[in-house]
Amino acid sequence: MHPARYRARLFLDVCRVFILPSTVLSCILRIVRVDLGLFAFPIYPAFIVAWAIVKGITTNVAQAREAAQFGAKPIPRVQGKWPGNIDVLLRMMAAFKTSYVCDVYLQLFEEYQSTTLNTRILWCDTIITMDQEHSKFVLSTGFQRFWRGTAQKERMEMFLGEGIFNRDDDHRSTARPFFARDRISDFEIFERCATQTLAIINNLSASSQPCEVQDLFSRFTLDAASEFLFGHNLGTLSGALPIAGKTAMGPKGSATHDSWGSFAQAFEMAQQIVTTRARLGYFWPLFELFRDKTSPHTAAIRRWLDPLVREALEQKKARSPDGGPSPLGEKNFMQHLADSTEDPVLIRDQLLSMLLASRDTTACLLTFVVYFMALHPEVAQKLRAEVLEHCGVDGTPTVDRIRNLKYMRAVINETLRLFPPVPLNVRETRGAACALPPPDATYANDGAPLYMPSRTLIMYFPILTQRSKALWGADADEFDPERWVDGERLERFLANPSMWAPFSAGPRICIGQEYAYNEASYILVRVLQQFDRFTLALDAQPAGSLPPGEWKSRTGRQAVEQVWPGSAMTLYIKGGLWVHFGKSDR
Ligand code: HEM
Ligand SMILES: *[C@@H]1O[C@H](CO)[C@@H](O)[C@H](O)[C@H]1NC(C)=O
Ligand SMILES: *[C@@H]1O[C@H](CO)[C@@H](O)[C@H](O)[C@H]1NC(C)=O
Repeated sequence: MHPARYRARLFLDVCRVFILPSTVLSCILRIVRVDLGLFAFPIYPAFIVAWAIVKGITTNVAQAREAAQFGAKPIPRVQGKWPGNIDVLLRMMAAFKTSYVCDVYLQLFEEYQSTTLNTRILWCDTIITMDQEHSKFVLSTGFQRFWRGTAQKERMEMFLGEGIFNRDDDHRSTARPFFARDRISDFEIFERCATQTLAIINNLSASSQPCEVQDLFSRFTLDAASEFLFGHNLGTLSGALPIAGKTAMGPKGSATHDSWGSFAQAFEMAQQIVTTRARLGYFWPLFELFRDKTSPHTAAIRRWLDPLVREALEQKKARSPDGGPSPLGEKNFMQHLADSTEDPVLIRDQLLSMLLASRDTTACLLTFVVYFMALHPEVAQKLRAEVLEHCGVDGTPTVDRIRNLKYMRAVINETLRLFPPVPLNVRETRGAACALPPPDATYANDGAPLYMPSRTLIMYFPILTQRSKALWGADADEFDPERWVDGERLERFLANPSMWAPFSAGPRICIGQEYAYNEASYILVRVLQQFDRFTLALDAQPAGSLPPGEWKSRTGRQAVEQVWPGSAMTLYIKGGLWVHFGKSDR
């Protein structure tokens, strides 16, 4: 069934659960010529319940038999107090509003002393795992057995359509050549956007005003992305910026009110809605029977993108008809897409996925690097020393110079470890059940493989794996870039590289990884050439965006976090991140 037809899917499910058993019962009654009369009222519902119970039992028996064939054990189940683990669902829904990002899952893993669990909410098997042996299997070694899955497509269909994040067939072949090497033109774009970004920071710093860096970096990454995607700078860095004390909270960070603001807001709202659907699980369509909640936001996004796509297709027509496609180095991504298809919807959807991939992730990385530089001034000093050594106070960051910034890479890797921009993700078994490999040897377990049922969701959590003390050592929650430089701790990672996978792994690993390193390093060099002190302006954070007081009494990063990390497809800081930039004396 097409993923857009979520209501039809729900209707068929209702039929399966209620109408099918009722029909069977009424046929039986007719055959045996029994008229239940008033007894029909209790008997029909009782039959429906009995039917569900018998079905549950037969499924369990069939799964157990299959598991035995694989020599696999069942995945431990979360045992809630209420039928269908409804109390667990309610606990999760409450936690999403007030608790630390992904903490509710971490608590379950700790409570059950297991790195992989079946939450089985509303009688649907849903596997959650923080075990990199299992995410590695899902993403690479067992890749053919999994896909993004129907549930995910259904949630994101209106928003992302045929884009690369919403399809399993191979669109990568179109996109990949674009990322095959460091394109010089990318660096020219970085320079233009960085100059503008630094002008803004300088202005604010000169008048001692804080800067909302999450918003600023989202503009930087969007303007840069739009140039290489559409060949047309969207100029969001020239728009109205958030102002400390005046700007309200948007769906993720700051709410701004220029035309860019309306696009960004629609983009973020759509992400929030899709995330809520994921949290509601299988039955989210119940809450959107009469209205697809993403539709006004998708409409706003399309109003904005469609003219750009039309322009690209017209440009293509205008180019000499016999000239054929233009060489890769000279064209932008949209022209590249237009050379391979005339379908404006496909082009638009691919662009939107590319925007999502390149804007939010890299902006998130940059925001958390600045956050950590504010919390750890010694890291900022060391980073600056390296930048000055290789690039001087105003040298242009070239590909080669950036390659030499070893400590910069360590800081980026360490930031991606603690705050992976994609903190959790999900896949689904394609058809048949399979056996997951045994959990990582570090965790106490008997080394048996685990039974993974057919057509079942599996959520994995880079953010939890990458903070696991069993894998990273007792200081796993601490930000320490030296981890990537020094012997014993680096050995841990080298011996078990899948314990760090912020860019994912396997055939669908991020194709923008090098681009992201280059882009992030570029702007950080430009910032550090001029600034050496970064101070959080917590008083400028909008009301309600600071962490609740009770976090202080918890363990791990939660107890020390100065801001509130949230997740809606990508990680973000609630209300944005307000920072004072201190000019260096050179
Ligand atoms: C720090 C920055 C970035 C991080 C942490 C990141 C992370 C990821 C992750 C985790 C995935 C896998 C998603 C999934 O399979 O569901 C992914 C896929 C992807 N990324 Fe990135 N990414 C970053 C930057 C970029 C940039 C800058 C671009 C493009 C310019 C990009 C383009 C893509 C594309 C096209 C895919 C889809 C690949 C596929 O599904 O075959 N990413 N990225
Ligand atoms: C910086 O401030 C000056 C004076 O207030 C203003 O004219 C200029 O447009 C500002 N530049 C930027 C990039 O914000
Ligand atoms: C950062 O991670 C990348 C990707 O795994 C790796 O190639 C690189 O060596 C790491 N850099 C540092 C400084 O550890």
